[in-house]
Amino acid sequence: MEKLWIEGGVPLTGEVEISGAKNVVLPLMAVSLLADGIFAIEKVPALNDIKMMAHLLRVIGSKVDYSSKTKTMTIDNSYCSYYEAPYELVNKMRASIYVLSPLLARFGQAKVSLPGGCAIGPRPIDLHLKALEQMGVKIEVNHGYIEAEVDRLKGAEIIFEKVSVGATVTVLMAAALAEGETVIKNAAVEPEVMSVVACLNAMGGKIEKRGDSELRIIGVEKLRPITFKAIPDRIEAGTFLIAAAVTKGEVKITGCEPLHIEALIQKLKEAGCEVQAGDDWVKVSRKGDLKPVDIVTHPYPLFPTDLQAQFVALMSLAKGTSVIEETIFAERFHHVPELNRLDANIVVEGNKCIVTGVSKLSGAEVMATDLRASAALIIAGLAAEGVTKVSRIYHLDRGYERIEVKLEKLGAKIKRIIA
Ligand code: UD1
Repeated sequence: MEKLWIEGGVPLTGEVEISGAKNVVLPLMAVSLLADGIFAIEKVPALNDIKMMAHLLRVIGSKVDYSSKTKTMTIDNSYCSYYEAPYELVNKMRASIYVLSPLLARFGQAKVSLPGGCAIGPRPIDLHLKALEQMGVKIEVNHGYIEAEVDRLKGAEIIFEKVSVGATVTVLMAAALAEGETVIKNAAVEPEVMSVVACLNAMGGKIEKRGDSELRIIGVEKLRPITFKAIPDRIEAGTFLIAAAVTKGEVKITGCEPLHIEALIQKLKEAGCEVQAGDDWVKVSRKGDLKPVDIVTHPYPLFPTDLQAQFVALMSLAKGTSVIEETIFAERFHHVPELNRLDANIVVEGNKCIVTGVSKLSGAEVMATDLRASAALIIAGLAAEGVTKVSRIYHLDRGYERIEVKLEKLGAKIKRIIA
């Protein structure tokens, strides 16, 4: 089994380039199904989740090629003929649900396995299904599969009771080729969602944002395949900034979009870090003590749930107590017992955790339970005294491109070992 071996205590220094965002590449791969011909995505990171989505598209009949050199993926959907996303794939990668709408738009039918829960708690898809029903889709759930059928998708007014990235993307893809107008109220406007909007518009779609959280889509007859570049991964960017802060280092992240991580930048400043930002870079350094800072996760542009675990790791070394509240996935605290194995002092109370800062963490063997929890354990390990070994790092390979190589370049003592 592969593990990450980390000897903590080295301040990270230098520059690191941020990869393209997995959370936009996955929906864009599904968007590609809305057009025939060759669709290309640039700045695609080499990640297991993306390989898995490529596998799913191949099952549907797409021809998918990826060059790790140019980081470009090409998807030829001219000969797609299958409309089923099987359990074995959906079960491993939740984003498979993204193919539901494009399959409906393309074939008028789709059979997609129900995704079920995952390591960060229950993740229902009721909002996706209700919205599609409003757009004229007949849906039955049989034997763990969503069986959906529609003659032609129809525009509708969708009012989401909760802000959902996934459900917003599902409706965007369904509405792009639907008959008439769709309005999504209380839409998610995460950078990844707005990037899907930009891509659909570049393909010939007609979508506009109104106010803070409304999207208006006028269905078109046809979309054309294009070449589209993935936005930088704001969560990878944030993870490196936190890693620099925890080790009292000085790191410049490049090729990123500072506006997308504004909420984190504010919190790092409150915690006593120095942060400077340019057009496409951010530099963080810390000299003094870490101050305790409370956070509450919320939809964009507020503090993202995907940086909560990493921020908990940072606060475990602050001088004082901080309260971290999770409003997106109430149970997303599996990293806490593992951080406590490194001598952190964190107590979970409902959807909050109370972090009482300690003066030092000590290396130990810990287990990654999900993607962002893995990042939190690495961050803690980089700051801890002695050696930390993180197991089950396959979670990490789903969403971070060669993180140990990038960290090593910043001076970290980290390596992948077989143990
Ligand atoms: C969410 C995050 C996204 C993050 C991703 C992976 C938000 C708003 N979304 O996106 O930033 O990258 O996790 O960690 O922060 N929900 C329902 N019914 C549904 C769909 C969602 O009740 O049909 C609920 C979820 O349980 C959750 C909330 O809505 O409490 C947001 O979920 P959603 O945005 O859909 O999740 P992801 O798309 O996975």
